[in-house]
Amino acid sequence: FAAVDVIRAKRDGARLTGAQIDWVVDAYTRGVVAEEQMAALAMAIFLRGLDAAETARWTGAMIDSGERLSLRVDRPTVDKHSTGGVGDKITLPLAPLVATCGAAVPQLSGRGLGHTGGTLDKLESIPGWRAALSADEIAAQLAGVGAVVCAATPTLAPADRKLYALRDVTATVESIPLIAGSIMSKKIAEGAGALVLDVKVGSGAFMKTLGQARELARSLVDIGAAHGVATTALLTGMDTPLGAAVGNAVEVAEAVDVLRGGGPADVVGLTVALAREMLALAGVSGADPAEVLASGAAYETWCRMIRAQGGDPDAPLPRPRHVHVVEAPETGTLARLDAYAVGVAAWRLGAGRARKEDAVQAAAGVRCLAKPGERVTRGEPLLELHTDTPEAVPAALAALRDAYAVGEDPGHDDALATRGE
Ligand code: URA
Repeated sequence: FAAVDVIRAKRDGARLTGAQIDWVVDAYTRGVVAEEQMAALAMAIFLRGLDAAETARWTGAMIDSGERLSLRVDRPTVDKHSTGGVGDKITLPLAPLVATCGAAVPQLSGRGLGHTGGTLDKLESIPGWRAALSADEIAAQLAGVGAVVCAATPTLAPADRKLYALRDVTATVESIPLIAGSIMSKKIAEGAGALVLDVKVGSGAFMKTLGQARELARSLVDIGAAHGVATTALLTGMDTPLGAAVGNAVEVAEAVDVLRGGGPADVVGLTVALAREMLALAGVSGADPAEVLASGAAYETWCRMIRAQGGDPDAPLPRPRHVHVVEAPETGTLARLDAYAVGVAAWRLGAGRARKEDAVQAAAGVRCLAKPGERVTRGEPLLELHTDTPEAVPAALAALRDAYAVGEDPGHDDALATRGE
C-alpha cells in the first residue's frame, strides 16, 4: 500500500478496505506513515466519514496496535465509560458499588482536559493514591478487591494515543467514527466482557444535541457488538453539573457521601441506574444496588480499593487556601445553572488543565449550593469558588457571568393563580 492512495480514496468518498485500514493504522503506529499523511487521512475521514464496517475495522486495528489485558477473574467483568461532563464523579461510587454487588470492574480512566474533569485527577487528591499500575497489579487487585480504577497502561491502544494528539492539533477531534473508535479501542483492549456507556448530552458535554449523542451512542454500541463485547448506552443530561461538587477533592468528598448512603439525589440516581445496567449486562442478579449503596457496604469496598493503590481513605482531603462566595442575585427559583460555564470556572480556578502536561490543584473547584428548580434567597450563598490561587477568581467569575438565572418564584405564581380562581 501507499499512504497517498488510502488518503485519496477516502478524500474521494470511497470505502476503505479492511486491508487498507489495518495497514494504515499499523504503519502509522510504527512511524512508517508520516504525521502529515495521517493528518490528511483524519481530515478526509472527518469530512467523508466511515461506515459501520469501516469503523469496526478501524477500532480493531487500533486495538491490535497494542496488547489486550488478560484479566483472569472468576466473576463476570463489566466497565462503564462516560463521554465526559461537569461534576461527573460517578465512577468513584459506581466501581465499588458494582464490585460489592458481585461483578468485577476494571476501569482504566483518563485525566481531565479543558472544562471536563478526569477521574484520575480526582482520585489523586487522596493522599498516597497511585494511578499507575502494571498489568499484573491490575489483575491482582481485580481478583482481590473486585474493582480497580487506574491509568491506562502504555501498551493499551498506542495508535489511539498518537492519533488523538494529532487530531487535537488538526481540528479532527469532532468526528463521530474517530471518537467512537478512540473510546472503544481503549475499552475493548482493557478486556472487560461487557460495557455500559453513559453518553452525555447538553452544554457541558462533547455532544451538544440529542441527535449527535444518539449517533455517537449507536456507533459505540455497534463497535462493541462487532468485537463481541456486550455494550449498551444510556443518554443522560449534562446541561447542569452533576451533584453539587465540581473539581477534584470536592468531588471525592461528594462520592464518599454517596458511598456512605447520603449525597445529592442526581448522583445517587445515576449511580444506581448505571449499576443496574452493568449488573444486568454482566448477568449478575441478586443484589439491589440502591440497597447496597444505602447500607454502606460499597463504602467498605471503596476503602479497600483506595488502600490497594496506596491511598489513605481516612486522611483529610486537601482544603483550598481561598474560598470566594457568589451570592444569589435575587430571591426566587434557580432557573438555570449552566454546566459548561461551571466547568470552565472550575478549570480556571485550577481544577483542570489546558495542556496535557499541566498540573492540577487538588483543592480547586466549585460547589453549587442550589440546583435548578430550587429556591434561592437574595444575598445567600449560591456558589463557592475554591482555589489556592486567588488571582484566578476574576477569570472564574467572568466565566460564570451568564451561567445562572433566578426566575419568578413558582410559589408566587401559585398564589396569583389561587387568587384568580
Ligand atoms: N475521548 C476519547 O477517548 N477519544 C476521543 O476521540 C474523544 C473523547
